[in-house]
Amino acid sequence: MTAKTLGRNLEILEKYRKYADMAELRVDCLDPDERLLIRRFPEQTGVPVILAIRRDIDGGRFIGGEGARISLMARGLAYAETDRRRNFAYLDIEEDLNVPSLEEAARTFGTRIIRSYHNIKGTDADLSARIRSMRRSGDEIVKVSVTSNSTRDVLNLLCAGKECEGQEKILISMGHHGVYSRILAEQFGSLLSYSSALSETDAPAAAPGQIEVRELASLYHFRSINKNTKVYGVLGYPLKATGSPHFFNTVFEMEGNNAVYVPFPADSITDFMEIAKELNVEGISVTVPYKEAIIPLLDFQSEGVRTIGACNTLTLTPQGWLGTNTDANGFSDSLLAFLSKSNFKRQRITVIGAGGAARAVVFELHRLGAKVLILNRTVHKARRLAAPYKFAWGGLDEQGIEKMEKYRDIIIQTTPAGMEGINPNDTADDPAAMYNFSGREEVMDLVYKPKLTTFLKRASNAGCNVQNGYDMLIRQARYQYTQFTGKEFPEHFFSRVQFGEI
Ligand code: ATR
Repeated sequence: MTAKTLGRNLEILEKYRKYADMAELRVDCLDPDERLLIRRFPEQTGVPVILAIRRDIDGGRFIGGEGARISLMARGLAYAETDRRRNFAYLDIEEDLNVPSLEEAARTFGTRIIRSYHNIKGTDADLSARIRSMRRSGDEIVKVSVTSNSTRDVLNLLCAGKECEGQEKILISMGHHGVYSRILAEQFGSLLSYSSALSETDAPAAAPGQIEVRELASLYHFRSINKNTKVYGVLGYPLKATGSPHFFNTVFEMEGNNAVYVPFPADSITDFMEIAKELNVEGISVTVPYKEAIIPLLDFQSEGVRTIGACNTLTLTPQGWLGTNTDANGFSDSLLAFLSKSNFKRQRITVIGAGGAARAVVFELHRLGAKVLILNRTVHKARRLAAPYKFAWGGLDEQGIEKMEKYRDIIIQTTPAGMEGINPNDTADDPAAMYNFSGREEVMDLVYKPKLTTFLKRASNAGCNVQNGYDMLIRQARYQYTQFTGKEFPEHFFSRVQFGEI
């Protein structure tokens, strides 16, 4: 609770009560006058409350001296009642604060001590030794809250927690790299996870990387995550926005699966795969920029991955990590459904682009019998992609565009050129601006945000049937669901399951 007044904190707690089991009152965020009135806060909340007065060096707002801070803590504990629910349930005392009288007062009336260590700059190397030695008596709960600047930092915290299994502790990896530690508290060996009511602008996040309380409870089903929960997620970097958790968690909930799907931002895939092993992750969606880099880390791979050279799905099997590519099937299913066809025989198709996405597209078009022309800005890449299939190729120039004359039953745009956030002030967001649509082409753009790229808008205005990449996104995710769980995707849920952030 980080609002400036106790009254406002109570209001916020009331609003989010059904999502939270406990509250932490951050006294350092209160206005000075309000700090004097904290003693009655616990009995007004109806939930166990942690009393914390965080110093600025630990990421808090308290800038007074230690004497003033200690007397505020004492004020919080004063006039303790025999009915423990009217007292603070926990007192957060930093490991370097030594006030035996305060600890004694807390213990006498059942207020448990959380012995905390914060590092807002980074993650210490010797965390397990620290966790073991921090407790001053067996009834204290150790809290280690450290900033992760890399995936390696998250791994260090996770391993330190594993080495101290059986000890009551709270482990927090602050920042974006460790965001999943806040969801997988159980797997990290942490007693609880801190969250904020981020939509309340006057109650800012208490620490970087916290997940909004409603999101933690409703999207990630935080409270039902236990040791038996199967863990899945999406691996990418920086992975600031992804719709996949929304999709998978919704299906898991509808199916009654004890499973959770989280974002795994990672700056190192080798460090991340160690984390995946420690967390018993069973399935991973792979996205930008790792679809190619992940291949050497696979134990075995599908023919699609071998030929396409890109992998977007990892499944843990008894023989190790299996890599598959569901983009390929997702693409062809989507295009076939759009055209009401069962294959591409006798279809003459132009593919624009020759990157990773194009490789999956061309693989499928070949498998399903199409005749293809590949056009790319960098011509030699088009030639290289076309060669093994004996397909035609060219540049995105006048000569290349002329070749389209014979390949225009279907046109497929695979480059990120028209995607939101790319080329913001650029007119080059239409990679085939020279091409004039006749109106008879069937046109697909793999981009789904925006719904209509400049390219697709132009096609639509000329009278073409158009389809964006959203349907393909859903279909490849359905294949991933099957790959992960061994079950068919529940078709009756199809219309109800959406990707978030679209
Ligand atoms: P992806 O995995 O999304 O396909 P990629 O492997 O980096 O990403 O490939 C990007 C593709 O989009 C390439 O074919 C690239 O063309 P170049 O090979 O010439 O780089 C193409 N591309 C990206 N931006 C483009 C633009 N503005 N106009 C045309 N093509 C573009």
